[in-house]
Amino acid sequence: MHGGAGTAHRRWGRVWCAAAVVLGMGLAGSVEEAGAARSGPSAAGGQAFTFNSQVGPLLRDRCGACHRPGAIAPFSVLTYAEVRPWARAIRNAVRTRSMPPWKPVPGYGGPFVGEQRLSDAEIELIAAWVDAGAPNGEGADFTLAPASRGGWRLGEPDLVIEMPEPYTLQAEGTDVLRKFAIPIPIPDRRYVQGVEFQPGNPRVVHHANMKIDPTLASRQLDAEDPEPGYDGVTPFSARFPFGYFLGWTPGQVRPLAAEGMAWILDPDSDLLLELHLTPSGEPETVQSRIGFFFTAAPPTTVPFTIRLGKQDLDIPPGARDYRSEDRYVLPVDVEVHGIQPHAHYLARRVRGYATLPDGTQRPLIAIDDWDFHWQDSYRYAEPFVLPRGTELTMEFTYDNSAANPANPHAPPRRITWGQLSANEMGDLWIQVVPRRASDLDLLVRDRRPMELAEDIIGFEMVLAADPDQRMVHDDVALLYTQFGRIPDAAKHYRESVRLAPGSAAAAYNLGTALLQLGDLDAAIAELERALRIDPAYALAHNNLGAALKLRGDLVRATSHYRQAVRLRPGDGEALYNLANALLMQGALDEAATQYERAIAGRPGSAEPLAELALLLATHPDAARRDPGRAVRLAERAAELTGHEQPGVLEILAAAYAATGAIGRAVATADAALRLVPPGREDVAAAIRERLDGYRRMRATRPR
Ligand code: HEC
Repeated sequence: MHGGAGTAHRRWGRVWCAAAVVLGMGLAGSVEEAGAARSGPSAAGGQAFTFNSQVGPLLRDRCGACHRPGAIAPFSVLTYAEVRPWARAIRNAVRTRSMPPWKPVPGYGGPFVGEQRLSDAEIELIAAWVDAGAPNGEGADFTLAPASRGGWRLGEPDLVIEMPEPYTLQAEGTDVLRKFAIPIPIPDRRYVQGVEFQPGNPRVVHHANMKIDPTLASRQLDAEDPEPGYDGVTPFSARFPFGYFLGWTPGQVRPLAAEGMAWILDPDSDLLLELHLTPSGEPETVQSRIGFFFTAAPPTTVPFTIRLGKQDLDIPPGARDYRSEDRYVLPVDVEVHGIQPHAHYLARRVRGYATLPDGTQRPLIAIDDWDFHWQDSYRYAEPFVLPRGTELTMEFTYDNSAANPANPHAPPRRITWGQLSANEMGDLWIQVVPRRASDLDLLVRDRRPMELAEDIIGFEMVLAADPDQRMVHDDVALLYTQFGRIPDAAKHYRESVRLAPGSAAAAYNLGTALLQLGDLDAAIAELERALRIDPAYALAHNNLGAALKLRGDLVRATSHYRQAVRLRPGDGEALYNLANALLMQGALDEAATQYERAIAGRPGSAEPLAELALLLATHPDAARRDPGRAVRLAERAAELTGHEQPGVLEILAAAYAATGAIGRAVATADAALRLVPPGREDVAAAIRERLDGYRRMRATRPR
């Protein structure tokens, strides 16, 4: 059907006719093609295709984001003079569909927002124009639309952050993956509706990921490297905002989120910018900027990203068809919004699909010629529902033979899982919104532990290959702690101490794990060592206080709690611990003062409220009692714990009794008794005894 264009290349009129026929067929045959929805090329007006009439605008719209001066592609398409020498290469690139880069197999999973594929008609238009000698035509040359000449495409950002110093990329050599921790200066919580990335030097910035780190981990790694940024792994604490991907590839600007779908950004966070840089042949400097767009509307819809993928990848050299698969059955109904496959160089084929409860399959995404350089996150043009019971499946295949032109190793080497591009990965992230908002919790609680268990496998894999990565030890230890596997956590913290014997943080982590294990002597030794390295380590003082208190050394415990409080005056946790220790030593008045400060330092925490209430209700010195205030404090504590904590209700009962509201005291103690978990007969007996006391008080009370 396309033959006509070829036979007609010598005469203008015929070229137009032939191409016009092709165009018509293209449109009729594939109305749903992405190209048809856009302002596609038009051969109206009886003219032949020329650069100025049709081809120029098409190239500008579909290629210009990358093919313009200073951008990532090797030539600009903005003027005829720039395009002309590339005409044949352009024809070849569009016919083979190697350009524009768009990886998903059409018709499998999409349509996606911003599909880059050219329609058949557009390809034939370009080919016919080249066949005809690539004429320029009449009229002024095209120039870039002002919007894409620089400046922000989503409007004026509410906040712009920038890499503090430019990074210098060497002229030659392999690709560089460099990470930069950039503080985000906001005074309080913000709702982020969009983020726009400006590469700073589009010639070398190939793609970028932006993660949020609420801890100091990224900043410390960055600081340890004398140059701007650092090489190496992303700390576990740096993640995409919950439920979102924040990536950038050339030419892409993710639109602002729909109302109610902003994500939450808290103060004191860093943005961890991961840049994939490609040397250009000359030394280049890079200083990227990120614009944030905030909204006043708190999120009402919270998406979740389900991550499918195994972290036990171990690909033997020469393996041509190594497979990695993962499946997950949805526990709730969801709406699917987006998808992002991720792998490194060896992946060849990427598949994601859903099997509905009735057995029908719904394709999600397919990429048949995976290219590390062209990975993207894709948003479905029409979000769709997958019912509970649907099985999500991912299937990736890898080629670790010499026949894979993307194989970075010659001869091929064994490749195992890891974050660095010399390792392999295989993740399929699926962004979903539960159909009922209340189902989010269920989904997260169902899925997250599976992903964390997989993370542990991955970290152990990395450490098996290289046991000297301290941060990986810390990260996996943190994960083990989340799973309550403290002995495993302690094992890795010990490795951290081995690798960084002078690090106070490493000693603190190990000491804290030992404390959790009840190994008090070892915990005290390690926490004391942390304090010898850094005497101003408030958290270490606090935990050392806890260990000493458990060993019965209240005096030294109090002294360390005092130092923790002196170093961090608002630390509600340390204040509460100090107050408890003082109370145990009979220093009631100072204990009361510290409980007051702990309440201010930990608003929303029931414990200091309840303890102070008890003290004010039962102070041995009647003059210091304040039953009215005790009731108010205890009522607040009961509210905060949903009236479900027997200990708190018991205190509330005592406070009522102290005000003389005996009826209420009885009812509340009764409620406390009913909440005592089975098997705690000791607790129940104590409450019953007090309950009897209140009943006697009521009986003897003068009417
Ligand atoms: C998302 C960015 C991007 C878009 C959009 C894009 N290109 Fe490219 N193009 C590149 C990059 C980068 C290269 C350099 C080679 C590579 O990395 O694959 C390139 C290389 C080329 C080459 C040289 C390939 C060769 O054979 O050496 C041609 C021709 C080309 N592009 C044509 C086009 C045309 C025509 C369009 C639009 C229809 C287009 N490109 C759209 C990024 C892009």
